[in-house]
Formats: sequence, C-alpha cells, structure tokens
Amino acid sequence: MFADVKPLPPDPILGLSAAFKKDPRADKIDLGVGVFRDLTGNTPVMAAVAKAEATLLQAQNTKVYIPVAGAPGFAEGLLDLLFGADHPVLAAGRVTAIQAAGGCGSLRVGGELLASFGAKGVTTGAPTWPNHGPLLGAAGLALNQIDYYDGAARAIDFPAFEAGVRKLGPGDVLLLHGPCHNPTGADLAHDQIRSIADLALEREFTVLVDCAYHGFASDLENDAFIVRELASRLPELLVTYSCSKNFGLYRERTGALIMVGRTAEDADALKTHAMKLTRANYSMPPAHGGSIVSAILNSGELSALWRDELAAMTKTVKDNRAALVAAAAEQGLGNDLGYISDQNGMFSLLPLTRDQVAKAREEHGVYIVGAGRINLCGVNAQNAPRIIEAYRAVTKT
Ligand code: LMR
Repeated sequence: MFADVKPLPPDPILGLSAAFKKDPRADKIDLGVGVFRDLTGNTPVMAAVAKAEATLLQAQNTKVYIPVAGAPGFAEGLLDLLFGADHPVLAAGRVTAIQAAGGCGSLRVGGELLASFGAKGVTTGAPTWPNHGPLLGAAGLALNQIDYYDGAARAIDFPAFEAGVRKLGPGDVLLLHGPCHNPTGADLAHDQIRSIADLALEREFTVLVDCAYHGFASDLENDAFIVRELASRLPELLVTYSCSKNFGLYRERTGALIMVGRTAEDADALKTHAMKLTRANYSMPPAHGGSIVSAILNSGELSALWRDELAAMTKTVKDNRAALVAAAAEQGLGNDLGYISDQNGMFSLLPLTRDQVAKAREEHGVYIVGAGRINLCGVNAQNAPRIIEAYRAVTKT
C-alpha cells in the first residue's frame, strides 16, 4: 500500500514554527504562527482560564462523553457574547451553534454542511489564510479567490472585491473574514459590510463569516458588527468561530459552528445536520476547552476578568504595531510602513517577495510567513529596530 510514499512539504505556518524552534541563533525573531506573545515571548495562560480550570478540575468526577453539540452552557454563552443578548435572531430562536474542534474543526464541519446541501465551492478575497484551501478542499469544496487586497496600495481594493462578489449567485458561498483579516490585517469597513449584505440579498448567495479573532481588532462589541449586521439582514448565515486567540485556548481546540436559519425550525434542523457530520468525524468535541469557555461566559466575575485580559492583549498588539512603524521612521523609511498602524489584529503584510522572506529568515533570523505575513505579537519595542534592519537589508532600502 505505502511502498511509494513520499514526504509532503511542511505546512506553510506550522512548518515555520518547527524550523524556528530548531534555529540555534539566540537573536532569532518569530513573526510566524498567529499566537499572542507577551514581552518575554511567552504565550501565557489567561488568568480567567486558569481560574475556571481550577474550579472545573475540583468539581470534575467523570470523564464520560459530553453531548455532540458540546459542553453545557458553551453555545448559549458564546451566542450571547457574539450577537449581544437582544439580537433579533436570538429572540426569534433562528440561531443555533455546536462546539467544534477549534476554528479549523468548525470550518471543516461547516464546509461539509455546505457540501451536503449542494455547494461546489467557496469564494473569498485574495490573499487568504493558507489553511482555508486545504480545510474546505477536504470537505469537497473548491476555493475560488477574487481580488481583495491591493499589495501596492497596501489597502483593500473594494471596487474589485465588490465586482467579484457581484458575480456570485444562488448556490454560491462567500467566505468573509471576521475582524482581523488573515493575512492582511485589512478589514472591511462597516459601510462596505453593508454593501456586501445588499449584494447577498440581491444575488442570493450564502455568506460564511470566519471569525477567529473576536475582540482583537478593537473590542468585543465593535468586532461583532460584521456578524450582527449580516445576521440581522440575511435570511441565512454561517459563522465559524475560534476561541484559540481570544481565550488563549490554542491547544484545547475550542471553537463553534454557528448557524442562522430562515426560521427557528430551520436553525434547529441545521444543528442536527452539523451534529451528524461531527459524529461521522470526531464524534464529539473535546470537553475541556468548551467547559472553560462556558465557565467564563456564565460567570460575571470570570467574564469581567477575561474581558480585561483580552483588552490588554489587544492593546499590546496595537502598541507593537506602533513600535514597528516608529522603528521604520527612525531608520529613514518615513511613513512607508505607516499603514501597519491602521490595520487590525495579529497580522499585516510587509511588501516582500518570497525570496526576500527566505533571506530575512536565513540571513537575519527573522521568521516571516509566505510572501510577507508578520505576526505583530512577535514584535516589541526592543526587537522592532532589528526587524526593520532585516527588512531594509533584504529590500535594500
Ligand atoms: C495562523 O494563521 O497563524 C493561525 O491561525 C494558526 C494556524 O492554525 O494557522
């Protein structure tokens, strides 16, 4: 069976992390995988998470299966958080959710749900997260990319994106990034989201929002705009949600597939389909992460602590953006990288070629993804000058 097996190339993001770990240089800088880092380079366990965990461990008296839909209280807490307690779809019972194995698990189950209802592909703006293609491809869906980010202008080319979206019709699926576009950091403005909602109503395509950084752009309320707006305007909507970054639960694989249906009956029915797909895949999600999120969201005290910690992480990333822009200005680049301060979340694109990215890694120990994606969490006031030195050396500016 496997006599001709050949190794595959490493994953573009996780492979870079493995290479970084192996690199013996003491001054190496990791701007790769999207995880939060504090000033010491550590990805801390959030205090709210540690407190919830301690209580859960003390109370735990069984390891028996949890329901396929996830840990008790998880979906309810998350829906209130994302939609706001008085959103009309909640009042109408038109939204349901299942816990999934991380944002990836929710994309895979969501992709299979779309494929099982006849979708052939998913359209999204280019560039996009490198794992969208494999995840949706494994669900049998082609990933079609349309114009989104204009690298030369360092901004969204909205007319081009809108023109691509206008070509979609019934049976098509548009994947929109939630807050903190990965890899560009360039998010749709509120009026642009409204225009896409108009087009979805007119052209009757389905929208899927991939929401992996809720709270990391500005705050939990403002970041929820895209989901709340689309859910209040469109008859149907899917949201894939990750708790990896905003709860710092990366390895606990905690996320959700959220389904808005035309009626409460449709939403309930969609949930049964999602559960059937989950059962045929990993049966039910791991309990630990979902129980932590449920414990936090259903406790006033833990929620308040978690919100403060999340706001502090978001501020750190904004400060890191400012530090990089300031270092660039100090080294004579003027406002060339100023756009980085206007973008959101963990990522922005440096205007680099793949060769320049390789040089930055090999000659300067600065690890960057693909064609220039940097994780701003890996930047700080201390290492920003060295990152800019490497950038200038590889671009000869
Ligand atoms: C990233 O884009 O770096 C993160 O979402 C981690 C991952 O799974 O790729």
